Amino acid sequence: MSDKDEDVQLEARLAEQDAFEPPEAFVEQANVADESIYEEFEAEWPDCWEQAAALLDWTEGYDQVLDDSNPPFFEWFTGGELNASANCLDRHLDERGDEPAIEWVGEPTDEANRTYTYEELHREVNEFAAALRELGVGEDDVVTLYMPMIPELPIAMLACARLGAPHSVVFAGFSADALATRMNAADSEYLVTANGYYRRGDALDHYEKTSEGLAGVDHEVSDVVVVDRLGDDDHGHALDSNEHDYDGLVADHDGATVDPVARDAEDMLFLMYTSGTTGKPKGVKHTTGGYLSWAAWTSQAVLDVKPDDTYFCSADIGWITGHSYIVYGPLALGTTSLMYEGTPDHPDRDRLWQIIDDYDVTQLYTAPTAIRAFMKWGEQYPDRHDLSSLRLLGTVGEPINPRAWKWYYKHVGDEECPVVDTWWQTETGGMMVTTLPGVKTMKPGSAGPALPGVDVQIVDAAGEAVEPGQAGYLTVQKPWPGMLRTLYRNDERYVDEYWAEYSDTDSDDPSDWVYFPEDGAKLDDDGYITVLGRVDDVINVSGHRLGTMEIESAIVGVEGVAEAAVVGGDHDLKGEAVYAYVITEDGYEEGEDLRERIVAGVEDAIGPIARPEQVVFTPELPKTRSGKIMRRLLEDIANGEGLGNTSTLRNPEVVEDIQQQVDD
Ligand code: PRX
Repeated sequence: MSDKDEDVQLEARLAEQDAFEPPEAFVEQANVADESIYEEFEAEWPDCWEQAAALLDWTEGYDQVLDDSNPPFFEWFTGGELNASANCLDRHLDERGDEPAIEWVGEPTDEANRTYTYEELHREVNEFAAALRELGVGEDDVVTLYMPMIPELPIAMLACARLGAPHSVVFAGFSADALATRMNAADSEYLVTANGYYRRGDALDHYEKTSEGLAGVDHEVSDVVVVDRLGDDDHGHALDSNEHDYDGLVADHDGATVDPVARDAEDMLFLMYTSGTTGKPKGVKHTTGGYLSWAAWTSQAVLDVKPDDTYFCSADIGWITGHSYIVYGPLALGTTSLMYEGTPDHPDRDRLWQIIDDYDVTQLYTAPTAIRAFMKWGEQYPDRHDLSSLRLLGTVGEPINPRAWKWYYKHVGDEECPVVDTWWQTETGGMMVTTLPGVKTMKPGSAGPALPGVDVQIVDAAGEAVEPGQAGYLTVQKPWPGMLRTLYRNDERYVDEYWAEYSDTDSDDPSDWVYFPEDGAKLDDDGYITVLGRVDDVINVSGHRLGTMEIESAIVGVEGVAEAAVVGGDHDLKGEAVYAYVITEDGYEEGEDLRERIVAGVEDAIGPIARPEQVVFTPELPKTRSGKIMRRLLEDIANGEGLGNTSTLRNPEVVEDIQQQVDD
């Protein structure tokens, strides 16, 4: 049989196969290889989570595993004290001081790469923590980090953690306005940023965007630290009087040490803003004890992280995935975390495979949107490289279709690596639903059962569990250590957004409280969960969560726009893309000029990631008789689907107009 025939046969076999067993060689060495963990955790809940807490060093032991006396304000490991930076650095120094903590692969290609051993990382984190302290940063001051994928970002996070100052990382791709909104919401007086970064070999200015954002901050910002990432490529900016050069500060504190500040388990480790149903981003609060335990335990149990690994998560640290699975989880376990500044297609489309080959990467954790792009580019790119160092593959952020799953399994994993499809959210802190790779059968397209000790149920609108084979809403019926504790300074919104739907909100009984992540899901006969996507007005573009209201308010802010509705439509690579339906104000012309201003308006308010794929002008929006915009209908139009029954429409004729434009 020729190679080609063999390939065709293999493809055919894979296409038909809908369940895959964990590879034997993997099982033999897996951190978790015994299925009894599911029963054990159920029987011993909530004490089972002591196993997670035991992965950390505590300066003061906790008194109680779970305090559920005031639901839904659950507290974990109460009375315990620890410091996240000490857990990620100091305790590894004796055994792993000379081992790499961070392998950083920078742009433009190789000459930019840097390795930080645990010893070196510890040293620089201490120096920067000393500098921040001198600037006045104290416990509980929120420090905003608006930084690209450079080592100074995790260094700044760990320096903040060392001081007990919560960080709020704002994704560098977000706009100046988005930065200002987040600094305002947190009253953050300190900012660490960079003068720029590299994309596909080009130097990008980040300082100008930062300065623009700072102009929109409604309170005094005491200090701004700027990392000089561009060196000679700097765009010639002079620093303002309250701005400091990062390298200068670190040099001034050469060799300084800062004792890690003991934090209560429930003290805030960081804030992370994420999109929700309303236009205002939500400040998700994560804690020191529960979150860090969760990040460490899931890294160990699901990603199978071991100290000698070189583990690579290709997410950006500006999102929760990077927080939990580039920084906190892997470093808490003392492994080598590889971080990459650039894109997977520069200088060529084999860049990730080249990195895996060069560094003997053992695990790759990436997103379905990336896998779909790899698939489109073709298997010749991974085929160019020796990927045999890989032991496990993971995905996160959005549903992965079986075809992409199988492509990943075969062309990247060579059918020898388990694939974990992990469902979770910013709010959950870490993974919740996925197969344990050394234990469970994998079913492409289905994330799997809930993790041991995690109580997920798929329910109908009345909150009753659905039968296997049915679809419903994903709920979490018991608290877990990694959960968000509240929305920053907004307990009421926390209850409303996540609990009100399925809980008896008057009850003090914790079992009456059910967490609702706003995802739809389907259950199969084996209890495997296929996540269907958001059921709120949030769309998922390339695995990134964007609120339709945020985009709509940006569009309505553009001169000449009277009304706008935004929905997500299917997209081959991005998963979902932004479709905007726009009614113009009287006297303004529909056309290219307005379209361009709308796109620019969205980029300014949020960032290029939210850029509409299509702007459709319409004289009216389809509304129900009560005046609600019929988003489902707009989604169907975006997806080119049949329109179904429009008899409840107040203005059915508008649909045809819109449909016409999309088809054009
Ligand atoms: O809709 C789910 C989807 O991403 C949402 C969470 O987005 P975010 O908070 O930005 O966090 C992304 C990284 C954890 C979820 O509500 N989602 C995440 N993972 C999956 C997923 N949908 C399907 N399958 C997944 N594995």
